[in-house]
Amino acid sequence: MGKDVILWAGAGQIGMAVARRIGTGKKIVVGDKKLENAESVAKLMNEAGFDVKPVQMDLSDKASILNFIETGQEYGKVSMLINAAGVSPSQASIETILKVDLYGTAVLLEEVGKIIKDGGTGVTISSQSGHRMPQLSASEDELLACTPPEELLSLKILRPENIKDTLHAYQMAKRCNEKRVMYEAVRWGEKGARINSISPGIIVTPLALDEFNGPRGDFYKNMFAKCPAGRPGTADEVANVAELLMSEKGAFITGTDFLCDGGATASYFYGPLKPV
Ligand SMILES: NC(=O)c1ccc[n+]([C@@H]2O[C@H](COP(=O)([O-])OP(=O)(O)OC[C@H]3O[C@@H](n4cnc5c(N)ncnc54)[C@H](O)[C@@H]3O)[C@@H](O)[C@H]2O)c1
Repeated sequence: MGKDVILWAGAGQIGMAVARRIGTGKKIVVGDKKLENAESVAKLMNEAGFDVKPVQMDLSDKASILNFIETGQEYGKVSMLINAAGVSPSQASIETILKVDLYGTAVLLEEVGKIIKDGGTGVTISSQSGHRMPQLSASEDELLACTPPEELLSLKILRPENIKDTLHAYQMAKRCNEKRVMYEAVRWGEKGARINSISPGIIVTPLALDEFNGPRGDFYKNMFAKCPAGRPGTADEVANVAELLMSEKGAFITGTDFLCDGGATASYFYGPLKPV
């Protein structure tokens, strides 16, 4: 009998922090668009006693996602999913952000939900950005939640003429992640499995460093300086939440999103980060 398998998309800092918490004794298949990223985290973790297989995987491509899942199944039953792949507003175009962060996440959650083991759990990394934008209407939220993945990018609210800039694209993608998790929790529940999302604030990783050095750098630095925590977070603090959600202690938690942002969203609505 094979080991339980963890599918882990996105070989970055947040993904690795989560994988290290929950990966002991499991087969971990890590997929990243940049194979070298997957290989370097696999090397680091294999030298620390984990069992990690790196593969190339593009979250914006359904065939690549299916291939990733099949690779995982070669080792045993898939019992966990970590989706920490993504691109930020300073790293990519509107089209790429929507294709990776929004469409790709929807496909991955749906496809893993079809094969997840009874008792399985998953987390996908969303963002505080999805909480910071104005409310959408109930019917817009429902469209983001329930539209079949292949039709998502044809929705009027996601058409290029209705997306202002890359930040807006990212916010829509992350809002969609939260809604998809609610929708998928029902389907995952039919298999005895759970799926949740975590919405980090500013967490120091290569992706965040690109933001600090990008056009909105001052905005982000001000954000962590004026949030109640007064500092950016670490990937390990996101992993604290993931560990709860993915363990037995989280058995009653599914279909929900956890903000882990040092209070930046609270300050944005009701404190010094409120836009004037
Ligand atoms: N760091 C933060 O401040 C922060 C805040 C909120 C949300 N997030 C989210 O956390 C997730 C992980 O980001 P991170 O901060 O750990 O960044 P990271 O840069 O450390 O890791 C992201 C990884 O995703 C990979 N990737 C990018 N496009 C891909 C694709 N098409 N297919 C497969 N892999 C792809 C990258 O190659 C990289 O290895 C992202 O979804 C990001 O939006 C990060």
